Amino acid sequence: MAAGPRTPRRARLTGVGAYVPERVMTNAELEVMVDTTDEWILARTGIRERHIAAGDQATTDLAAAAVRDLLDRTGTAPSDIDLLIIATTTPDYVFPPCAPLVGTMTGMDSVAAFDLNAVCSGFMYGMAQATGMVEAGLIRRAVVVGADTLSRIINWEDRATCVLFADGAGAVMIEADDGAPGTGVVGFDLGSDGSTPGDLWVPAGGTRTPITPGVPHADTCIQMNGREVFRFATRILVESSARLLREAGLTIDDIDLLVAHQANERILDHASERIGIPREKVVMNLDRLGNTSSASIPLALAEARDTGVLADGALVLMVGFGAGLTWGSVLARWEPRP
Ligand code: UT7
Repeated sequence: MAAGPRTPRRARLTGVGAYVPERVMTNAELEVMVDTTDEWILARTGIRERHIAAGDQATTDLAAAAVRDLLDRTGTAPSDIDLLIIATTTPDYVFPPCAPLVGTMTGMDSVAAFDLNAVCSGFMYGMAQATGMVEAGLIRRAVVVGADTLSRIINWEDRATCVLFADGAGAVMIEADDGAPGTGVVGFDLGSDGSTPGDLWVPAGGTRTPITPGVPHADTCIQMNGREVFRFATRILVESSARLLREAGLTIDDIDLLVAHQANERILDHASERIGIPREKVVMNLDRLGNTSSASIPLALAEARDTGVLADGALVLMVGFGAGLTWGSVLARWEPRP
């Protein structure tokens, strides 16, 4: 990527693509693996089933499938993409990052490409990064992917976490408006609080505690203080949305659709009630997809488009939250390519 003279412009959200692995894992299957019940999972989380990657699928495979879907749907040539960002917590390797591999897998020769890790908020950070680069005139068109293969870091003996997380990938197109009418990507609210990393983490496998023969398997998997994260998630969903709307000079009545991280139906219910947005404007697909971390917001957006809930020109409020702790909200108008 080379940036010549820069022209300020607006960035628009013009397309979304999605991919989930074929294999569906039901709550009934989990009943056999751990001490849980379909009733408990459904009542406490809203999840009925989730998709799990095949043994030979890694994060780049899911991401590439979502990117191909996006390019097909928007009629975009891979060579027209200037920047590819992949938000993920579960890359194929420690390095290289996923993005250069996915660029090659999808025909984007020499594309500027990097990974970004802000866990379940990563996709929101990626959208902010792409928007900033488009609006600064550094690039014309970016693809932002959220992709995770959480099944590889789930402790399948821990009933508190194994019922929640799953695999998938979603991708959006952020591109320069070329002077077309519309409001584009309106604004962001991004933040973090790193004071309690152990609330949601994988303790081993990084540079602080490398994986050695003495490290328990459970420490190489997701561990979560569910109640604390639940409290944080509900609070931050409300606060971040309110801050962003205030900054944009809008109210919740201006919002056509809330697409929040699909962590738990009860979090979405509590938060949407406090935000004051009617249930029919809140997208939920976690009953069938579970919590797919970075992928959950673009996957929910894609489903809303497919079911007709996401109308052209709709003003969409997206909110991510998760480990770090991190959070990120994006307000954008859905302006698909004709
Ligand atoms: O993506 C990042 C963001 N993640 C989140 O936002 C997740 C936030 N947290 C949550 O969604 C919820 O806290 C959970 C779904 C993880 C747990 O629900 P909860 O209502 O907060 O349950 P709890 O942790 O308070 O546990 C209640 C009981 C406990 O038993 P005791 O101690 O009361 O006897 C747990 O051991 O439920 C038990 N329990 C289970 N029982 C059956 C925990 N997991 C299960 C299970 N099946 N799978």
